Amino acid sequence: MNTHQYDVIVVGAGGAGLMAALYASRTASTAVLSKLYPTRSHTGTAQGGVGAALGSQEEDHPEWHTYDTVKGSDYLGDQDAIEFMCSEAVPAVYELEHMGLPFSRTPDGRIAQRPFGGHTNNETGKPVRRACYAADRTGHMILQTLYQQCIRNKVQFYDEFHVVDLLLNNGVAVGVVAMQLSTGELHVFHAKSVIFATGGHGRIWNITSNAYAYTGDGVAITLRRGLPAEDMEFFQFHPTGIFKLGILITEGVRGEGGVLINDKGERFMEKYAPRVKDLASRDVISRAMYLEMREGRGIGGKRYMYLDVRPETVNRYAALDGRKRPDGSPYVVTAEEILSKLPDIIDFCRTYLGVDPVQQPMPVQPTAHYAMGGIPTNKYGEVVVDPQNTVLPGLYAAGEVACVSVHGANRLGTNSLLDIITFGKHAGLRAAEFARSAGFQPLPPDPTGFARQQFESLRNSSGTERAIDIANEMKTIMDDHVGVFRTEEGMQLAVEKVRELRQRYQHVRVGDTGKIYNTDLLNTWELGNLLLLAEVTAVSALARKESRGAHAREDFPKRDDVNWLRHTLAWVENGAVRLDYKPVVITRFQPKERVY
Ligand code: FUM
Repeated sequence: MNTHQYDVIVVGAGGAGLMAALYASRTASTAVLSKLYPTRSHTGTAQGGVGAALGSQEEDHPEWHTYDTVKGSDYLGDQDAIEFMCSEAVPAVYELEHMGLPFSRTPDGRIAQRPFGGHTNNETGKPVRRACYAADRTGHMILQTLYQQCIRNKVQFYDEFHVVDLLLNNGVAVGVVAMQLSTGELHVFHAKSVIFATGGHGRIWNITSNAYAYTGDGVAITLRRGLPAEDMEFFQFHPTGIFKLGILITEGVRGEGGVLINDKGERFMEKYAPRVKDLASRDVISRAMYLEMREGRGIGGKRYMYLDVRPETVNRYAALDGRKRPDGSPYVVTAEEILSKLPDIIDFCRTYLGVDPVQQPMPVQPTAHYAMGGIPTNKYGEVVVDPQNTVLPGLYAAGEVACVSVHGANRLGTNSLLDIITFGKHAGLRAAEFARSAGFQPLPPDPTGFARQQFESLRNSSGTERAIDIANEMKTIMDDHVGVFRTEEGMQLAVEKVRELRQRYQHVRVGDTGKIYNTDLLNTWELGNLLLLAEVTAVSALARKESRGAHAREDFPKRDDVNWLRHTLAWVENGAVRLDYKPVVITRFQPKERVY
């Protein structure tokens, strides 16, 4: 058996994993396992910015950021954790700057900031510049910066090691099992602390901004090991994915003055969010787009809208809104400015659509983007396993795989990059501290047994089902019934269909039976993870009889704080989903109606 030993094992090499590794490696031997090369991680696709109330261009405060995040979460976010994150944001961004992250700059050299949805001046209710950005490549720059820092700190990387199981012994995390892609062999990583930072699971849906690798491995592994998943019904649909492809078009486009337009040429967000219009929170905008399309005002009657960032459009609406630059002059942009602030977006549209955004509007539709739910943790990244928030010793989670919960029912744009750097850091610190005080606990007998059994049954199946067919059917049913708008009937149908697909998955045939780079086998195993999470998502959604944030039910259109101001916890027991609930932490802000 290939066995390795480290104080701290980090699973996943996106921003949360690298930040965790960086901090853990200051005092503990630390290894990062990634199924990819680290710089291919999904953090690299994050575009528009990281939220922090620096106030570099106008007045702003961490308290305003806190309130906006609570409101954006539709009051489901835990307020102690939100306050913690928003007050850590300012030093965290300066820390990244000092590590060498090439932020875009104001003319006088400060970190440039742009408006983003739901971030406001709490006194005027108007959008505030809070997103600190590096053009439209902010996540890419965070990833490169943290990777360099980790290399400098002698973090050990195991690239293309796909983690497939978590090892627990007597209720303590003691390591993970990973398959080495180049050999197909299983390796045991024996550790004092394990940090999961494996990202999200948007590949459950067809139209998604998520990378192929976003298959929910971390949540699926922990569910199989008897741990709960929290608030899985809340999945964010970002309003602007490229039509049919889902590729993200950053909200930064609207931050720079771009507007959404319907088939009648109307800027329809004026109707749905009169104060902040195209900079309302994402749940509000995605719903508005669906309503417009349903009423026949999609472009050409189809299921997309236009996002228009042509300078003449931006300037016209900026004048109507009375938008000003920080020095008080009227907000007027040129094509050159758009090109310099949004180079990747321009490039994507030219490449994938043959559309030049400074001359033509972009066809966009809502795209499955972000999991608000995940492995439950406290604000130090410690995994908690029941409604009393009991900590599982030695296990940590951070980033999209985790549910702290700072995003509640709907995340504000830019708060995911903030989440990864804040909670990645604290998970790393806690994991290293735990490792200092703990010895290596023994591995369980036959540590690779459970993983081996899963892969052997896939390899030896004599069934005739094809993974691709099951995946396509899962995505269609989730798009149709567990998307932006939901009904009892549709979700019930989705639960039944996903259960049937999970049965059929037992008979899936893997074409490649080899060992070396067997992506057929691993992709099929990933499909098992997606199916498990699709069922948990649909069951959790069906049970929640209210509308809140990203969970919009046509049959229960109102938020119900009396019965549903609580987090869902879901376990998988004997193949079935069991639900329980825990209270939301309310500190300063009592729930009230959200008006944008
Ligand atoms: O629109 C965006 O740039 C996405 C940012 C985010 O999801 O935070």
